[in-house]
Amino acid sequence: MKRLAGEKATEHIENGMILGLGTGSTVEYTLKKLGELVKNGLKIKGIPTSMHTMRIAKDNNIPLTTLEDNPKIDLTIDGADEVDSDLNLIKGGGGALTREKIIAFNSRKVIIVIDETKVVKALGIDFPLPVEVLKYGYQSTKKTLEGFDCEVKLRTIVNEPFITDNTNYILDCDFDRITEPVQLEREINSTLGVVENGLFIDLVDEVIVGSKQGIKTLDK
Ligand code: A5P
Repeated sequence: MKRLAGEKATEHIENGMILGLGTGSTVEYTLKKLGELVKNGLKIKGIPTSMHTMRIAKDNNIPLTTLEDNPKIDLTIDGADEVDSDLNLIKGGGGALTREKIIAFNSRKVIIVIDETKVVKALGIDFPLPVEVLKYGYQSTKKTLEGFDCEVKLRTIVNEPFITDNTNYILDCDFDRITEPVQLEREINSTLGVVENGLFIDLVDEVIVGSKQGIKTLDK
């Protein structure tokens, strides 16, 4: 299902485009397919949203550039952890949410690729909201975030704190459900110590869903 969605998205890529390259296992299928297209003569330049994606892009001989050199992105293809009926998202399962949001914000078009398990009635029921925070004073930031009525855990990997590409921590905030995503996104981002949160509000144009029945497209 991930492969179906990931590969389908490459049909939106046109010669000469500047592309935002998302992060995650679904978009990896996009990157592999894109590598084949480049090999067959497609001319594009990609801006990776993480060090991990940069490595995959290099392995697939995808030409890269930066947001500084190309501030206007034609199309970004990225994954998501949850998608609601307004096409708002939770992202950050891989910890790349801040760069992903900056790239999405600067894109003319954003396409999200997911498998059908990611389509939800309300955000936050099954997936905790990732929040990137400064290491400095993170316990204090954690306490403030607990005030939003959620359980907050420092993300770890083999018993050590997970470190983002921006050398920060991730606090995973487990809500019963997120009822007001628009408001919550703003409020969390005005918390001292928060760099960015994984709620993507009104940033997406189209969602390609790989399902057992084939491909479905959700748009506004
Ligand atoms: C990375 O930080 C995330 O936002 C990913 O895009 C998201 O977790 C989707 O990943 P998968 O495609 O691996 O499920």
